Amino acid sequence: MSKLSVICGKASEDLGRKLARKIKANLVKSEVRVFPDGESKITLKGNISKSKSIVVQSIYPPVDTNLIQALSLISKAKENSSKVVVVIPYMGYARQDREFLPGEIVTMKVLAKLFKGAGASKVIVVDIHSLIGLKSFTIRTENVSAVPDLARFFKKMSLKNPLVVSPDQGGKERAKAFAKEMGIEFIALQKKRDRKTGKVQIKTKQVDVIGRDLILVDDMISTGGSIVNATKFLKKEKCKRVFVACTHALLMNDAEKKIKKSGVTKIISANTIPGNTSIVDVSNTIAKAIV
Ligand code: R5P
Repeated sequence: MSKLSVICGKASEDLGRKLARKIKANLVKSEVRVFPDGESKITLKGNISKSKSIVVQSIYPPVDTNLIQALSLISKAKENSSKVVVVIPYMGYARQDREFLPGEIVTMKVLAKLFKGAGASKVIVVDIHSLIGLKSFTIRTENVSAVPDLARFFKKMSLKNPLVVSPDQGGKERAKAFAKEMGIEFIALQKKRDRKTGKVQIKTKQVDVIGRDLILVDDMISTGGSIVNATKFLKKEKCKRVFVACTHALLMNDAEKKIKKSGVTKIISANTIPGNTSIVDVSNTIAKAIV
C-alpha cells in the first residue's frame, strides 16, 4: 500500500481523484447518505495509510453539510494516520474573518478550532478570500493560488489587445499577478459594497478600454453582483468582449444567467468548485504544496 492516502469527500471527488493520481496516493472514496433531517452518514471505501492522509473536501453550498463532512473525514483520518493534511479547495466562511460590525462572530476562528480539534496537522487552501482568515489557525496553513493556472489558460486564447481588470481595489494584486503571467497590462476599478444590503456600485468614472478584449479577474463569484456591475460599466466604456476568470465559481441562484445577460462572453473558473465553468484544473498546484 502507498505511504499516502487521499481521502476524498463528496464535494471534491474529481479534484481528489486527480490529486491522488498526481501524488501517487491510494484513493479512499466516501459514500455519503444525507438523511431527510439533513444529517450526513459517511462510509469510507478503501484503506487509510498509517503515516499520512490527505483529506480533500471543498466547503461550498450546502456549506454546513460540506463542513461537517470535512470534519468527519479529518477525524476518521486521524484515527488511522499519524499525520493528516487537509485540503480545502474552496474555504467557506472565509469572508467572516473579522468583526466588520459590532457583535459579528468571526466564524473563521470557530473553524480553526474545529479543524485542529478534529485532528488536522496542516490546512491547505486555494485563493482564500483573505489571508487574515488563516491567522485564526494555530496549526500550519498554506494558501496556494489558481491564478497562474487560470492565466496560462487565457494565454492560449486568441484575444484582441487584452487587458486584465480587477472589479475592485482589493483584487489589485491578483489582477497584477494574472497580467504578469500573461505578459499584459492590468487596471483595477473602484467598487463600493453596502455592508448591510450587499448592493454593489462601481465608483470609477472613466477607463480607456475602447475596442479591447477584457479579462475580469476575481477570487470568487457568488451572487454575480460584482461582475455584472463591472461588465455594465466596461461595456459603456466601449470595450470589445468581456471574459471572466475566477478561482471559485459559486454562481448562486441565477448568477450565471445575470452575468451572461450583462454581456460577458465566457466565464472560466478553477475546479475548486465543480460546475460547467470549472475547466481549469488546480490539482498540480495543490500537489506541489503536499510533496
Ligand atoms: C469581494 O471582495 C470578492 O473578491 C468578490 O468580488 C465577491 O465576493 C463576489 O461576490 P458577488 O458575486 O456576490 O458580487
